[in-house]
Amino acid sequence: MNKPLWIVLEGGDGAGKGIAGGVVQDLFNDRQMPFIKTREPGGTPEGEDLRRMLLGESGHVWEKTSEIMLMTTSRVQHVSRVIRPHLAAGTSVLCDRYVHSTLAYQGYGHEGPIDFIERLHQEAVGGDMPDLTIILDIDPEIGIARAKRRLEEDCVDEGRMEGLAMEFHQRVRRGYLTIAANDPARHIVVDASRSIPEVREEISNRLSAWIETQQGRTAPRRK
Ligand code: TYD
Repeated sequence: MNKPLWIVLEGGDGAGKGIAGGVVQDLFNDRQMPFIKTREPGGTPEGEDLRRMLLGESGHVWEKTSEIMLMTTSRVQHVSRVIRPHLAAGTSVLCDRYVHSTLAYQGYGHEGPIDFIERLHQEAVGGDMPDLTIILDIDPEIGIARAKRRLEEDCVDEGRMEGLAMEFHQRVRRGYLTIAANDPARHIVVDASRSIPEVREEISNRLSAWIETQQGRTAPRRK
């Protein structure tokens, strides 16, 4: 039996995580690997409530530390109640964002305490990390325009991050690239400014090769 895999999609707003998610799902399906698709903040009823509080136009103003802790609260619920049980039952997990988002947005983007985010992840979440993170890398000038268009088209009230300054989004991008460079074996960085077929093909090729190496391996993989 194929061992279950935990794959996370990351990137700045409007980078095209949806396209990457489609490729991952196709590969899981081709290999007849059962999987769930989930997201952060969210993924549990409690987390989805937190998502509305954090991302909606509620007028709430969060202190940096509060925002970090609420993102982490959503993650504790998610890892304990959804991610770990599914992996233990042999089901792979495709997750839209994880702790890399807190590091990139609340850490690098808002220039918040990165060491605190890392310690909180260890203490509260147990330090669990995905097998692989796919980072969709794009110039925020392009990504934010795409994201705003989509929010308008879908009439979704989750645009709090998209409204922040371009310098913020540039720091988020640099943050992701730094995180990936520090642990290249667990990251695939994809240039998401190209056409959809080109992005799909690159992800598909690199992910297929990576899955083959994982399925050959029996060693414990996370933490
Ligand atoms: P998402 O729904 O993926 O939005 P998009 O498709 O526009 O990228 O993510 C929602 C927002 O939540 C996104 O702006 C990033 C933000 N976020 C954080 O700031 N910190 C976090 O820890 C997480 C999980 C998300």
